[in-house]
Parts: sequence; structure tokens; C-alpha cells
Amino acid sequence: HEAFTVAIDGPAAAGKGTISKAVAAHFGFAHLDTGLLYRAVGRKTLNGAAALEAAQSLAAADIDRDDLRTPDVAQAASKVAADPQVRAALVDFQRAFARRAGGAVLDGRDIGTVICPNANAKLYVTASDEVRAERRFLELTEKGHDITLAQVLADLQERDARDSERATAPLKPADDAVLIDTTSMNIEAAISAAIAAIQVRI
Ligand code: C5P
Repeated sequence: HEAFTVAIDGPAAAGKGTISKAVAAHFGFAHLDTGLLYRAVGRKTLNGAAALEAAQSLAAADIDRDDLRTPDVAQAASKVAADPQVRAALVDFQRAFARRAGGAVLDGRDIGTVICPNANAKLYVTASDEVRAERRFLELTEKGHDITLAQVLADLQERDARDSERATAPLKPADDAVLIDTTSMNIEAAISAAIAAIQVRI
């Protein structure tokens, strides 16, 4: 089997994760949430580790943890993600995953632009700040986090600004990415749009 790579990028809480999982299941591809790599490094820095050493020694057990999906880990992730050396330490793992036989979906911020510029299909998933904040707020409060909608919105906007304005691999759509704006789509419609955009490239 030849490798087939799907790159899915976009800002925080736009629906990338849900769409990526559904797309991978639909086509029988493996899925890598690359945000987990940066979250795992960020979490280690919260425990006092140096970011570069944490990135260079990252192990599977580090990214397979429930405690990575918290607002403080997300902020720490976006801080370590601005360091070019940290990013460089994570490139080979992501590219190897993308090339695996049987197909792969990678979601993140720089997959279509830097990690897999030759991906077979590229999507850029967005939604309005307000809708993204509401979705993330519901997710977090369901898990028992004590947080306000205004805090979630401010958090997302701070992280998006840091991710878009950094010098290395900033968040932006690849020139050849298909844009999917999920602001007024339900999840089924967003998944269908993503599958249709990928299907035409197979
Ligand atoms: O996608 P997620 O919210 O889990 O990503 C956490 C942080 O990791 C992002 O805010 C971003 O700073 C960083 N990230 C990145 N490049 C990727 C994936 C995530 O810089 N490909």
C-alpha cells in the first residue's frame, strides 16, 4: 500500500480533533493529534523540565495521558511550541507517522505548511472565536473544570495569537488547503464536508 497523508490544521477548538478522528475511521487511516506532542512537552515544563530535553526524550507513555487536556497545559504547549528547537525535535516522528503504509491523518497547526507540504489532501478547519470558545467551555465544564466562558475565550485568543504570530511554523492555511468553516455547521455536516474534500483526492 502506498502512503496517503491527510493534513488537517486550524486554530484551537475549531473541531479538528473530532473531524480528524471521524475521517481516519472512515478511510481506515491512522490518526495522530500532533497537539498532544506539544502538550506533553508543555506539561513536563510545568513540572520543571527544560523544554528541549523534554521534546528530545518524549515517549509514547507521555502522550497517552488524560491530564494533557487542561487549560494550563494548553498554554504551556503553545509557549514551548514557539521554540524552533523544540519543533525541530518533533519533526521526524511526525513525518514517519505521515508516511506509514495504509494512510495517515495528522492534525495540528503546521501539518500542511511544514510537516507534510506534499500531503495528498489538506484541510484548514476554522470557526468564529465565540463558537470555538462555547464548544471548549462545554467540554471543560462537563469534565468538571471551574472556568468561565470569558476565561475560555481569552485563553483561546491568547493561544491563537501566539500560534499565528510566532516566527517558526506559524498557524496559517496552506495555499492549497480546502477551508472548512464550522461556525454554523453541526458536527455531522463538518465531517461530511471533510470526507468529501478528501475523497476527491483519492
Ligand atoms: O491542538 P492543541 O490545542 O492540542 O495544541 C496545543 C498547542 O500546541 C497549540 O496551541 C500550538 O501552540 C501547539 N501546536 C503546534 N503545532 C502543531 C500542533 C500543536 O504548534 N502541529
